[in-house]
Amino acid sequence: YKRFLPVFLIFMIAALSGCSGIDVLDPKGPAAREEFDLFQLTIYLMLLVLATVFILFFYFLWKYRITPERKNHIPNGPSGNKKLEITWTVIPIVILIIIAIPTVKSTYHLSDAADAKNLQGKTVIEVTAHQFWWEFHYLDGDIKTSDVLHIPTNQDVVLVIRSDDTIHSLWVPQLGGKMDAIPGKTNRLWVKADEPGSYEGKCAELCGAAHAYMLFTVKAESKQDFQKWKQAMKQKESGNQKTESAAAGEKVFKKNCLSCHAVNGSGETISRGNAPNLTGFADHDRIASVLPNTKENIVKWINDPKKYKPGTEMPSFKHLSAKEKEELAEHVQSLELDGISGKGDGGH
Ligand code: CUA
Repeated sequence: YKRFLPVFLIFMIAALSGCSGIDVLDPKGPAAREEFDLFQLTIYLMLLVLATVFILFFYFLWKYRITPERKNHIPNGPSGNKKLEITWTVIPIVILIIIAIPTVKSTYHLSDAADAKNLQGKTVIEVTAHQFWWEFHYLDGDIKTSDVLHIPTNQDVVLVIRSDDTIHSLWVPQLGGKMDAIPGKTNRLWVKADEPGSYEGKCAELCGAAHAYMLFTVKAESKQDFQKWKQAMKQKESGNQKTESAAAGEKVFKKNCLSCHAVNGSGETISRGNAPNLTGFADHDRIASVLPNTKENIVKWINDPKKYKPGTEMPSFKHLSAKEKEELAEHVQSLELDGISGKGDGGH
């Protein structure tokens, strides 16, 4: 077992952290830490039980091995040993109590922290899960974003989670665990970040063809930066100078995309149907959470969205001319926020 155990542990660590591309065992906030502590407690107890069982197993395997003297001899096992029976009943009960007390305590604490009655002084953000993207709605200021969730650091945030279609599950392990998004039901989750940074999140409930691509990023920033971002989101589209082709692309966008997508300041602030608000898109690291945000990739995405996200409602815009697609990509990448955006300025 000495060889097996490290292999098992490496496999578990790979399965839990490496392969999913998400840091599961690295909590960065109090809610996540509370869950991580429980996880650790159960893992260590489990390893203790596992080790005990394996040690006894191999010990007896060796002790009662076949020797020339014992050939064809079946030993009489003990029967009706009260001491032994009480021991192996009491030990598991004690272990379960050790696990149960903090588990029940945390369960109540975590759900209280997100309770509708305890929202005073907390940042409340509505989350709607769609096939296959996340929508974040900041009620004060009526700001909507997709795929990137901005939160202030050192501040209790309560996510009010709903679903637009099927069952999804919001999971951002570094900040505060997992919560289902269920049609017709409202769930709440408390998250909190200690320090600024980007934290990866994903859908954790099989919800259709592109479930694996239903990713999002939580950007935690200082309270000032968060306010600045919110202010910028409320303003009209950035007044930044546009290139000629980006301006041409804006026309293509208005004609083709604005019937579903919304961009603040372009006359459409509410998306229709199942389409993300693209305000401040220049700040997104990825397109539709699957492709790195480059101009070439925007063109690829426009040509065949279903190739990259099976089951997405976004139709192909292959029929646009190559020039129009280029311009469109340039326009989408020019959707910046005043005083915040700008690729490579290190602001985010
Ligand atoms: Cu949404 Cu899986």
